[in-house]
Amino acid sequence: MKVQIIAAILVGIACAVLAAPSVDTSILKVFETKESANIIISFKNANTASIRRSARSLNFTDRTQRIQYLYDNLKRHADETQGNVLGLLSNHQTASSIRVRQIWITNEVSIKNANKGLVEELLKRDEILKIAEEKIIPLSKPTSTVVHPEGYQPKADEAWGIVTIDAPAVWATGNKGQGVVIANIDSGVQRTHEALRDNYRELHGWYDAEEEVDEPVDQLGSGTHTMGTMVGRTNGIGVAPEAQWIACRGCSFFCSDTAFKLCGQWALCPTDSKLQNPRCDLAPHTITNGWGVSSQGDDFYDEILETWVAADIAPFFAIGNTGTRCNTVSSPADRDLAIGVGAITSFNYLAAFSSVGPNVDGAIKPDVVAPGNAIYSAFTGSDSSYATLSGTSLAAPHVAGLTALLYNINANLTVSDIKSVLYGGATPAESLGRECAGIPDTEYPNHNYGYGIVSASASAERVEKMLRQKI
Ligand SMILES: *[C@@H]1O[C@H](CO)[C@@H](O)[C@H](O)[C@H]1NC(C)=O
Ligand SMILES: *[C@@H]1O[C@H](CO)[C@@H](O)[C@H](O)[C@H]1NC(C)=O
Repeated sequence: MKVQIIAAILVGIACAVLAAPSVDTSILKVFETKESANIIISFKNANTASIRRSARSLNFTDRTQRIQYLYDNLKRHADETQGNVLGLLSNHQTASSIRVRQIWITNEVSIKNANKGLVEELLKRDEILKIAEEKIIPLSKPTSTVVHPEGYQPKADEAWGIVTIDAPAVWATGNKGQGVVIANIDSGVQRTHEALRDNYRELHGWYDAEEEVDEPVDQLGSGTHTMGTMVGRTNGIGVAPEAQWIACRGCSFFCSDTAFKLCGQWALCPTDSKLQNPRCDLAPHTITNGWGVSSQGDDFYDEILETWVAADIAPFFAIGNTGTRCNTVSSPADRDLAIGVGAITSFNYLAAFSSVGPNVDGAIKPDVVAPGNAIYSAFTGSDSSYATLSGTSLAAPHVAGLTALLYNINANLTVSDIKSVLYGGATPAESLGRECAGIPDTEYPNHNYGYGIVSASASAERVEKMLRQKI
């Protein structure tokens, strides 16, 4: 979201898995100043990589079975390693004041309002590797926000981004993304908005990781805006207006690493709004994330990315709003498995705020660029509110919406298929005469524009060609 450049540094969880076997008690310092804390417990036996590897290599008859396999095995592993701790928590004298949620996708447990006594008891348990305080990820301002007055008439080229990525050429073939489900992890979505109310998939379509509100809401606007760009049906704002949407709220007044992990898990096998009755057959095809941390090379979300990719769910992330210097990309967008999206202006130049690569490993980032400056879409307020915002979180949904058009052609695309047709179909942007890591922005791929500006028609042609070659 516009939202998210972030101060919090989210190191520790995944790295700690490889660290010393004795428990780290530094969490106790938190209680010198606080009565209670929101914590995440990680376990010594946390190696779930083999489950994801088998999910990739085994032959399943369809994607749902592969996702079911991931869910069954990750859940079983978490239940087995966490059993005693979960039992202790449900019997504990503070059980009524704490909120316990299992994060099986990373083999962790989240506890809200844990007090020192409980944490001391937990630290005695042999199977626990680490107890860390939940990281609050503060929201940052969008690079610009203009909320339009009620009755504002959009100009003919107001939704210029849709034209720039050539979505209308694909619509002309009868493909507006029907049959495809997309998701975002953002500030929520205003379900009643005129642009979005008719293509919300109600069945297991919403989870609110912070406040557990039952129906989609959005107090901030960014989630409604990004969803509008993907699938909005009014005023020409949506790339794939016939696709359906579901959403997980990771940010209400702030975001947290816990909420992002719970959302990442929810999206794999969506549940109802109370985390009951997971349905792996209801997984979305793509997930757009407008958030990131200001640090680079941060692996805190890697296991979730790996699981999504094993499930053929394409992960889109805003590359960050801290350009124009090189090496300013943010995590998780800068991770190898994420598709990190930078922002261009309507003149096909890199937007001044768009973060630039390479990533810490020297790899190309962003992966691609898309319209992200002065983007008109749905907004919170009334059910006919619209706003024009700028930020790379507005670029990522253009690409995710485009991907819904590709899944309409072939629902069985893998994430590597998606990357290959996006990269292959991308077109050059205007040079600003910049270079990073020795690569000028006229040579592709480069660290300013990645593989270039995405094109719906060129990528769709590549998907058609892949299908013909398979026959
Ligand atoms: C999966 O299917 C492919 C192609 O049909 C086959 O070559 C491969 O041996 C199968 N793998 C397993 C583990 O059954
Ligand atoms: C996708 O996979 C399903 C299940 O394996 C299969 O029935 C369908 O024909 C496939 N579609 C395409 C376009 O390959």
